[in-house]
Amino acid sequence: MKVSKWFFVITIIFLFNPQISYGVSELSQQFLEFAKKSEVYDWMVGVRRKIHENPELMYQEFETSKVIREELDKLGISYKHPIAVTGVVGFIGSGEPPFVALRADMDALSMQEMVEWKHKSKVPGKMHACGHDGHVTMLLGAAKILKTHSHLLKGTVVLIFQPAEEGGGGAKQVVDSGSLENVKAIFGLHVSPQQPIGQVFSKSGPILAGSGVFEAVITGKGGHAAIPHHSIDPILAASNVVVSLQHLVSREADPLDSQVVTVAKFQGGGAFNVIPDSVSIGGTFRAFSKESFMQLRQRIEEVIIGQSSVHRCNATVKFATKEKPFYPATINDDNLHIFFQEIAGSVLGVDNVKEMLPLTGAEDFSFYQEIIPGYFYFIGMDDGKKGKPASLHSPFFQLNEDVLPYGAAMQATLAATYLGQSQHLKNHDEL
Ligand SMILES: *[C@@H]1O[C@H](CO)[C@@H](O)[C@H](O)[C@H]1NC(C)=O
Repeated sequence: MKVSKWFFVITIIFLFNPQISYGVSELSQQFLEFAKKSEVYDWMVGVRRKIHENPELMYQEFETSKVIREELDKLGISYKHPIAVTGVVGFIGSGEPPFVALRADMDALSMQEMVEWKHKSKVPGKMHACGHDGHVTMLLGAAKILKTHSHLLKGTVVLIFQPAEEGGGGAKQVVDSGSLENVKAIFGLHVSPQQPIGQVFSKSGPILAGSGVFEAVITGKGGHAAIPHHSIDPILAASNVVVSLQHLVSREADPLDSQVVTVAKFQGGGAFNVIPDSVSIGGTFRAFSKESFMQLRQRIEEVIIGQSSVHRCNATVKFATKEKPFYPATINDDNLHIFFQEIAGSVLGVDNVKEMLPLTGAEDFSFYQEIIPGYFYFIGMDDGKKGKPASLHSPFFQLNEDVLPYGAAMQATLAATYLGQSQHLKNHDEL
């Protein structure tokens, strides 16, 4: 009896709650149509091209930050600045709890754009080759959607424009600034050049790896290359270090627990006939759990020092610094996964919401997920019109601007419906 009574009460509340009766599918379609309107689309394209032409590296996103603040001013959205050097944190809605956050990263890469087009990077050696110009624009697009529909918001959306995703751990600094206090959940996205436009890709649990860098100097004793027994050869020692490091994954890690160790830097010697004093090597390592990550870190150090000493060399090993911190694995919250699938299905159609396998790339979005539930997903951009699309971080990378309305509508719908559902849950609790 009791069960059916409660079921009845909850059903009535569900049916007559104004936030809920305004259906998710109406809202999501309304948001997507708004984002696709030509004046909104053209505005987003303009903002994106402006940012693309002037790419800025980590913690130097001063002009990008200014563009963001100018657009927020025009939209009448209040914000805090500076957060984490160049970051901007905006607020839309009641100003009251619940709070939900949307995040975009702002920084570019130090590489030369090779795409010849009207809005090519105007800064030699710097390029938005990871789509962050698009991420910022999509968050501004979501801001415009949400501001225009702010009467529907049952709480506050926090807009996080974050610096230094590419190795600088900007997210960590945003967390340390206290900007996520009282925020209940956070959503972030990344463009994906190889996936079809109009589709999103994600999974629950680990979606991107934890990432760290290591550097080592292996010191021997230089001398004449023809008289090796009077030297201690750091090149041979370093070569054995590289080979031994490969065994950490192939022989020590569980084959079903994916890990990576890559030596990507090997520098030493400058002449055919001289054994150098030292060699420096460096690389990256990846794992999907903190435990595996810390195990790798310890063994990398042991192997470099141990293998060097086999060859009578000394080694010093350095790991993360403040400028290049370890990134934890990006782990999507299970409940948010269920929520995401429902919302993405209502925006894009259920057939366009895809499950993916984890990737060994890394994201500092994970720093947010260390303190609150967070959800990270990829959004496709390929429309088949330009042959095989160049990958992220390629000098030939091109953002398909048609993705902008999809990303803006997705983020806006996630935030608005999250607040609506959170309100519903609150009512439920108060029963
Ligand atoms: C390694 O370090 C020890 C102790 O400091 C030192 O005696 C030795 O000469 C070093 N060997 C090399 C090859 O630098």
